[in-house]
Amino acid sequence: MMMMIRFLTKESCSILYRTLSSSASSASLSNTKSALKTIIAATDTDNDNNHQPLMDTHGRRHDYLRISLTERCNLRCLYCMPEEGIQLQPKSNLMNNDEIYRMAKLFVERFGIRKIRFTGGEPLIRSDIIDIIENISELKSNGLEKISLTTNGILFGRYSSRLRQAGLDSVNISLDTLNPDQFQMITRRNGLAKVIKSIETALSEGYDSVKINFVPIQGLNDDEIEDFIELTKDSNLEIRFIEYMPFDGNHWRSDKMLSFEQLIKRIESKFNINRLPPKSINDTAILYQVEHYIGTIGFINSMTNPFCNGCNRIRLTADGNLKVCLFDSKELSLKNAIRNGMNDNEIDKIIRLAVQRKKKQHSGALKLANSSNRPMILIDQRKSISTSSSISGNFSHIDSNDGHQVKMVNVGEKFETKRIAQARSRIYIGQNVMKKIEQNQIGKGNVLTIAKIAGIMATKSTSNLIPLCHQCPLDYVDIKFQFNYQDEEIIIDSICQTNWKTGIEMEALIACTIAALTIYDMCKALNKSMIIRECYLLHKSGGKSGDYHHSSH
Ligand code: 5AD
Ligand code: SF4
Repeated sequence: MMMMIRFLTKESCSILYRTLSSSASSASLSNTKSALKTIIAATDTDNDNNHQPLMDTHGRRHDYLRISLTERCNLRCLYCMPEEGIQLQPKSNLMNNDEIYRMAKLFVERFGIRKIRFTGGEPLIRSDIIDIIENISELKSNGLEKISLTTNGILFGRYSSRLRQAGLDSVNISLDTLNPDQFQMITRRNGLAKVIKSIETALSEGYDSVKINFVPIQGLNDDEIEDFIELTKDSNLEIRFIEYMPFDGNHWRSDKMLSFEQLIKRIESKFNINRLPPKSINDTAILYQVEHYIGTIGFINSMTNPFCNGCNRIRLTADGNLKVCLFDSKELSLKNAIRNGMNDNEIDKIIRLAVQRKKKQHSGALKLANSSNRPMILIDQRKSISTSSSISGNFSHIDSNDGHQVKMVNVGEKFETKRIAQARSRIYIGQNVMKKIEQNQIGKGNVLTIAKIAGIMATKSTSNLIPLCHQCPLDYVDIKFQFNYQDEEIIIDSICQTNWKTGIEMEALIACTIAALTIYDMCKALNKSMIIRECYLLHKSGGKSGDYHHSSH
């Protein structure tokens, strides 16, 4: 397999990945299939890659698969579901029981997956949940060691004993408060009593482990941290404190997140706790136990201390997309691969290719907050972000009568949503001037600082410069510069963010353009042959037309 990957060019890999990663039409699927066949045929030697662990280029072995069963949920947790709700897709887009089994079998038998966790939305909403677990537990004779489930606990009490019988080994139940009014506030639904009953049932039915997922949020439920720890006094529960993470539309703010450091200080001042050794090298939780208590407490520090080093997990969304990292928005549609008739060898190869591309680490907290990702409820389940835009749609700036009048679009009825746009431009400037800029030796002043200020100021004037642009409240603008000595150019990247009714692409493009012109102005005495090479949209997220990534990235 390693041989095969070396044969593939960077371009063919990315074509393959891109074409398979969107929910493609049948025409593009057949193109995809033939492109894939060509690549596989050109690279296929034999099937010596079968039954090899799923390794990435950073030496991580992937033996833990999370499968989302649905995007639907019977709760609406504030930190998970965007307030405006999520768009559900037709049931036919989701993986059915047979497809789930085929995928799981392939992962267990060929890649040595040892643990499968079912997630959602709320997985117990699926009426075939018992059949799914029963089928998957057949794989225990082929190397699967453990089947787990993450649930919100509303329906778990009802299904618990049947799930246990079907082969479920452990359960994580989400619960962020013990107060019924707070529960209604956080989940926007009733049901605390059912969740508590589910926890009691799970404890009495001999599951290997019962864990509670608790997301502490400053000013929301942080006053209940101690109460949750007290639950471990007499019960064999693990309370998992999960750092609040940013996802599209969940109104994440860094000051609402309680970090491990803050939590542990507070807990240590009130309880006598001891650190426990990790249960395995891939354990994402840091474990503690209050002296003389039966249960344990765990900390999942995905924001302040990402556990990327030991990451052994991959995900399948409910619509059958493979996601190699929770924080990577790229997805590969395995469901399309199956429905398009690919055999296990072919699917094996594209999965290995996708895992090869897994990055070493995800970006820091702030970058995540500014990047676009599925809402949590969609991460474990929903469709890949569509990159297509309708060509046949109306162009809203041209009056439909004659195409020569102008019309500003009335956005009075539109909803405000979080929107992000990133743009890039390049200015060819020549090596000598580049060095001078880098060493801050340009007579007029610090070129990059002034270019950055100019770009930010110009962004604020977008609606004055572009006639039909609306005035948009900017939440954030940043401009960054990279020196590309090989092409003797400076690459200028801008990012703009707003919570508004219209897109913010023009703002991002103006930021880059004016920063480039400012560099030009400050350096023109030294080099008259400068060229502003290009200016284009790298990425946008939010709004009705969905996400867009420039195809060269
Ligand atoms: N931050 C941290 N954890 C989250 N979850 C959902 N959204 C977030 C978020 N924004 C976790 C909760 C829940 C599980 C289904 O997903 O722990 O229990
Ligand atoms: Fe549903 Fe879980 Fe999300 Fe809450 S956190 S809305 S229970 S999927």
